[in-house]
Amino acid sequence: MTDTSAMGCRRMTDRIAIVAGAATGIGRATALRLAAEGATLAVGSPESERAKIDTLVAEIESAGGRVIGCAFDATDDNSVAALIDAAVDAFGGFDAVHANFADLRVIFKDSDALTVSDEVLERTLDVNLKGMLRITRHALPKLLERGGGAMIYTSSAAAVWGEPVRPCYAMAKAGINALVRHVASAWGQKGIRANAIMPGLVVTPETRQSMPSDFQAEVLARGRSMRLGEVEDIAAMVAHLASRDGEWINGQCIAVDGGSTLN
Ligand SMILES: NC(=O)c1ccc[n+]([C@@H]2O[C@H](COP(=O)([O-])OP(=O)(O)OC[C@H]3O[C@@H](n4cnc5c(N)ncnc54)[C@H](O)[C@@H]3O)[C@@H](O)[C@H]2O)c1
Repeated sequence: MTDTSAMGCRRMTDRIAIVAGAATGIGRATALRLAAEGATLAVGSPESERAKIDTLVAEIESAGGRVIGCAFDATDDNSVAALIDAAVDAFGGFDAVHANFADLRVIFKDSDALTVSDEVLERTLDVNLKGMLRITRHALPKLLERGGGAMIYTSSAAAVWGEPVRPCYAMAKAGINALVRHVASAWGQKGIRANAIMPGLVVTPETRQSMPSDFQAEVLARGRSMRLGEVEDIAAMVAHLASRDGEWINGQCIAVDGGSTLN
């Protein structure tokens, strides 16, 4: 874990952020990074991951942070609205949203365009893409009421890689990139900054053991970096985009991928 206090990096002391999809991996690292930078936080994941959210909340609180944990499901519009309302009720509003969630279990059945089932297509789009529109429509009015703020979406390098597998996942992530451009174009002049981060292969604490080593080696060989991604690489970009340092970045889909999308 990056020691941001040692870097004197406290860009978020007057900021409130929501991390949606925070129980594990990139979202968890982002919550810890934003908290280390002084942000007040609302963190959410599905009820099935309540224990992990509780652990995250306890970790942030024990370091002196201000945080609430919420259960929400990106496929349920009312529950997405409840996550946003919980942040407003607790803190009076918020300045940034990291829309990070994705169903990364269904991805293993996301075979190819000829064989993938409608069920996999529907589930992938429902969580990974439609969920992004749901959180946008509930968060935006609250950000606009405060005079603006940052929507930061986790997309993927898969949106542009052109892989022979995982078509539904790539379609959903490409859709996020389109949503980002729309939101920035429609509300940029009202203070909304919408950006997507496109991670390359990030080895999370959860996948470090389970991800086949030959797959990791293959992706590493394709890239232009000495290592694969770590969750902190993405968290650092979220913190940049959520802070004043990112104030003139809008409508961008930013690859944080060790150069793997370089043609
Ligand atoms: N790890 C990688 O290599 C990689 C690469 C590119 C993009 N990404 C993207 O980064 C994001 C985080 O992925 P990760 O690797 O940390 O995996 P992860 O499985 O640890 O994180 C996914 C998060 O989404 C949440 N989530 C899942 N279903 C949900 C639902 N229905 N409603 C609300 N939340 C839900 C989970 O609680 C979890 O916190 C995802 O959007 C993923 O597509 C990851």
